[in-house]
Amino acid sequence: MRVLVAGSGGQLGLELAELLPARGHEVVALSRGDFDITDAGSVDRVFGEHGPEVVINAAAFTNVDRCETETEAAYAVNALGPRNLARVCERRGASLLHVSTNYVFDGVQGRPYEPFDAARPISAYGRTKLAGEEHVMRLTNRWTVVRTAGVYGRGHNFVRTMLKVAAGRDVLKVKDDEFVSPTYALDLAEGIAGIIEGEGYGLYHLTNAGSCSWYEFTREIFRLAGVGTELIPIPGSEYPLPAARPANGVLSALGSPTLRLWQEALADYLEREAAAPAADQ
Ligand SMILES: NC(=O)c1ccc[n+]([C@@H]2O[C@H](COP(=O)([O-])OP(=O)(O)OC[C@H]3O[C@@H](n4cnc5c(N)ncnc54)[C@H](OP(=O)(O)O)[C@@H]3O)[C@@H](O)[C@H]2O)c1
Repeated sequence: MRVLVAGSGGQLGLELAELLPARGHEVVALSRGDFDITDAGSVDRVFGEHGPEVVINAAAFTNVDRCETETEAAYAVNALGPRNLARVCERRGASLLHVSTNYVFDGVQGRPYEPFDAARPISAYGRTKLAGEEHVMRLTNRWTVVRTAGVYGRGHNFVRTMLKVAAGRDVLKVKDDEFVSPTYALDLAEGIAGIIEGEGYGLYHLTNAGSCSWYEFTREIFRLAGVGTELIPIPGSEYPLPAARPANGVLSALGSPTLRLWQEALADYLEREAAAPAADQ
């Protein structure tokens, strides 16, 4: 398939740009500098040049806290960008796979969120991402929306941050009342490749299996990386951030491809990180 990847400089985009050609697809992977999804004219031009059959939108404004104050910019990327892509895909007969987030949910429910549960975002990031989903679903018939959570890969992410922070500290406090299924960008890319190859349109929840609190996640990161920093579990109220996060951010994979357990994925990731040149980190 001829696949256009938007946002190929990001964690997921980088994995897709490597994985899809290895699976036999003809791939045009464009990062923000070459393809700004908020620019409708550029979206038209790029489609004209490359004529993709499938578009994967891995581009997003992902800094959750900055979205609270830079809401206009976040809306442009997270909602108007997918709208531009959806319109052109519909006009040119291409399929669109758009990536979204567990932060479309409020996190108060007592079980993992199914794709059919009502979205009720509690942050500007979540609201802009939900608006993006809605544009995609309304403006094109050949849509796929993949919601994921806690993504880490070759970019700025929780795992790298915790390892960096730990280097200078004996003790670290981490939230223990907010739950997520941490997801390795490489596994997410594989799941997405499977979905487009199967022409499986619709709404998916795609994360590594299992779930944990951020404290439990950090404990496993430190155990695997051999970090001796002492960890103290704290309630989120002790570490206030500009944007609210869902307490229960766990997605149920009902009807979606199953990815391996988050602990296995994390071990694999840390091994690859240890083998990667420092410039990559
Ligand atoms: N990261 C997570 O924990 C997480 C959790 C749930 C869902 N998701 C979703 O998963 C998807 C992939 O996330 P990720 O972790 O790969 O994010 P990421 O590493 O932040 O990558 C996003 C990429 O989009 C690019 N971008 C921003 N504005 C753009 C624009 N106007 N046009 C084109 N590209 C633009 C960014 O470029 P610059 O760096 O130059 O701005 C960046 O390379 C996103 O849809 C995100 O919402 C992520």
